[in-house]
Amino acid sequence: MTLPSSHFRSQTTTTAVFASAPSTPNHLRSRVMPTSTPATPAAVPAANPDGTGSSDTPSVRRERQGSFGGSQRAKILKPFNTANIKILLLENVNETAVSALRAQGYQVETHAKALPEDELIEKIRDIHCVGIRSKTKLTRKVLDAAEKLGGIAVFNSPFSNSRSVAELVLAEIVLLSRQLGDRNREMHEGIWSKVSSNCYEIRGKTLGIVGYGHIGSQLSVLAESMGMRVYFHDVVPLMPLGTSKQVSSLDELLSVSDFVTLHVPETEETKNMIGERELNLMKQGSFLINASRGTIVQIPALAKALRSGHIGGAAVDVFPKEPAANGKFFESELLGCPNTLLTPHIGGSTEEAQSMIGVEVSQALIKFINYGTSIGAVNFPEVDLRAIKDEENSIRLCYTHMNVPGVLMRITNILADHNVDKQFSDSKGKIAYLMADISDVTPEQIQDIYRRVSETPTNIVTRVLY
Ligand SMILES: NC(=O)c1ccc[n+]([C@@H]2O[C@H](COP(=O)([O-])OP(=O)(O)OC[C@H]3O[C@@H](n4cnc5c(N)ncnc54)[C@H](O)[C@@H]3O)[C@@H](O)[C@H]2O)c1
Repeated sequence: MTLPSSHFRSQTTTTAVFASAPSTPNHLRSRVMPTSTPATPAAVPAANPDGTGSSDTPSVRRERQGSFGGSQRAKILKPFNTANIKILLLENVNETAVSALRAQGYQVETHAKALPEDELIEKIRDIHCVGIRSKTKLTRKVLDAAEKLGGIAVFNSPFSNSRSVAELVLAEIVLLSRQLGDRNREMHEGIWSKVSSNCYEIRGKTLGIVGYGHIGSQLSVLAESMGMRVYFHDVVPLMPLGTSKQVSSLDELLSVSDFVTLHVPETEETKNMIGERELNLMKQGSFLINASRGTIVQIPALAKALRSGHIGGAAVDVFPKEPAANGKFFESELLGCPNTLLTPHIGGSTEEAQSMIGVEVSQALIKFINYGTSIGAVNFPEVDLRAIKDEENSIRLCYTHMNVPGVLMRITNILADHNVDKQFSDSKGKIAYLMADISDVTPEQIQDIYRRVSETPTNIVTRVLY
């Protein structure tokens, strides 16, 4: 199974692709029924010296015990020899991810830069999981070369940088209000231009937030702490934070705000959301900020409104067309517009965000590899089961398969004589994923279940965790 490379690209987040864990019965042969390893109290999961098991964090243990009513211990699954798992991290993926994955006992190879296609093709052959940022292109050719590849789950971390974006926008509100971009440029040109006309404090001014999600709501709190009045518009009714208020339409928001800031996703509805009509609805001399997606604002209309003075200034971090590499490639009608702050899509680009992304994505990967949990995958059915009971003869079956009629009947037939404690399946497009926890199975029965499930014609990857 391969997916278009666009599935693996993300401008602001680390995207990790899990390419399949060893799923042959080797681990069953070598260690059919291991005894469970007691969890260590370490804050970070630590691998056993032989790499055969993973220890666990206290918080994970609490979570699992809770799901069994507190008294029954949760089982620490031993999917395989963790030391056999090879992970390739490119583009300087944050150290938090590197150490979390190494702590599991996985082999982690890191590179500071993206690799060219031919080098990536060589490297990816025996890799189970690859972590990238925005430069790497996992093309069809590259994916076809990945011999361990049976199914791909892509995990990203879209909300780790919300705070970074909100802080940048808050700063831009002050900068625009004081025309700081222009003063800074003039000073660098040797021009001393001390002015106070049309420069304002932000205290008491109205901020209009379009899209009250992760970033919009975070900004709402920060702006109120600076003394701003906050209104927002969102397509869904939302609980306002602090003393902010939801207004009933975009038009209303535009007409009452001194600053309008956009925090909506890119959808058919939000494309070209702010054009000439909307800019004309905004107050004379008000400001527009866009750190969401480039297609949401019609740039020629904004440039015209800035040059006419109807819009008093703008801060733009995202553009309909953005250069693919750093260098002197940027062109826009906004170049040279008055009081206009232009930044190269850096809203979420901070050390803190990178670190959070490393933590979040590596945890998602570890859960997928060790427990089969695919929650948070962007292209793959999202399935989770509560923890498996701490009994020696229970297993977890993870079955990635083609989403066609009749599969569940086949699986039910295979499992018919066994005690299935819990089972969950979900599909996304052509792919479906089933997880089932089965108790009271002998080592021979485990082999048999594995063989029969992996031999089904719809099989993509079958894994048995035990
Ligand atoms: N500049 C950067 O570096 C950077 C970094 C992170 C995110 N972003 C972008 O910021 C935007 C917001 O991110 P987020 O994490 O807050 O998203 P989010 O999904 O948490 O919130 C988006 C909000 O917009 C609302 N919404 C959707 N369509 C709408 C419409 N037509 N009108 C009004 N509201 C609408 C949704 O209901 C939701 O509350 C996204 O476009 C994201 O890609 C940019």
